[in-house]
Amino acid sequence: MEIQKSNHLQKVITLDGPAGSGKSTIAKMLAEEMGYYHADSGAIYRAYTFAVIQEIGLLESPEIFGDVFLKSNIDIEKYPIGVYFKDKTQIIEYNKQVINDYLRTRELTERIKYIADNINVRKKVNHILRNLANQYPLVVDGRDMGTEVFPESSYKFYLDASIEVRAQRRLEEYLQSKNSHGILLEEIKKEIQQRDEYDKNRKIGALKIPSDAIIIDTSNLTRNMVLNLILAYLQKKF
Ligand code: DC
Repeated sequence: MEIQKSNHLQKVITLDGPAGSGKSTIAKMLAEEMGYYHADSGAIYRAYTFAVIQEIGLLESPEIFGDVFLKSNIDIEKYPIGVYFKDKTQIIEYNKQVINDYLRTRELTERIKYIADNINVRKKVNHILRNLANQYPLVVDGRDMGTEVFPESSYKFYLDASIEVRAQRRLEEYLQSKNSHGILLEEIKKEIQQRDEYDKNRKIGALKIPSDAIIIDTSNLTRNMVLNLILAYLQKKF
């Protein structure tokens, strides 16, 4: 399906939602279906977390990492992070090395909240995303895409799912990435609940349902069902 609009910002479709709601998977499928580009904002927050880890290390615990980061006055502008598309796939580089495969480890995920709270990081990520939107028609997923970054978009979706389903999806993802180290479903459930809590209560860029978004509960739907629902809504709107 090709959408013809003159204003580039009308070519931004936003998908927000909590961890494991399926938004990245659906955003990718939707972009493919429409001939759009998929921008994964979470992956850019992960890249900044990766960069900070390169600088200060993982340290003994996420809490100590957070403390050291907060006290360090790190200038995130200096990080050599590049975000671009290759064959419509979002590539993230650090120091000219592609780091896409290093962004979804548990250790990194446990530390990301400190980086995502940082106003300068948020400004930078938003700037990168808006720049991409100036050049490409985008399907972009995250937490604050419809509220903070592209409030003017006319095509907003909010995906959600039960905590059980979201934890199960994350477990499968960890198992596939061989990053599981015997992790239990209950542990993942707790981690996701903590991250939800944090993401919803962040002072800036919190996870919120945009007032003009279509809300889809993906708990009992297959990927294709969610995709078709979104396509049907879009067809009605265009
Ligand atoms: O979607 P994800 O799990 O890759 O996101 C990782 C973290 O990045 C998430 O817990 C909070 C942060 N994030 C954010 O603050 N704002 C976004 N738009 C996307 C992600």
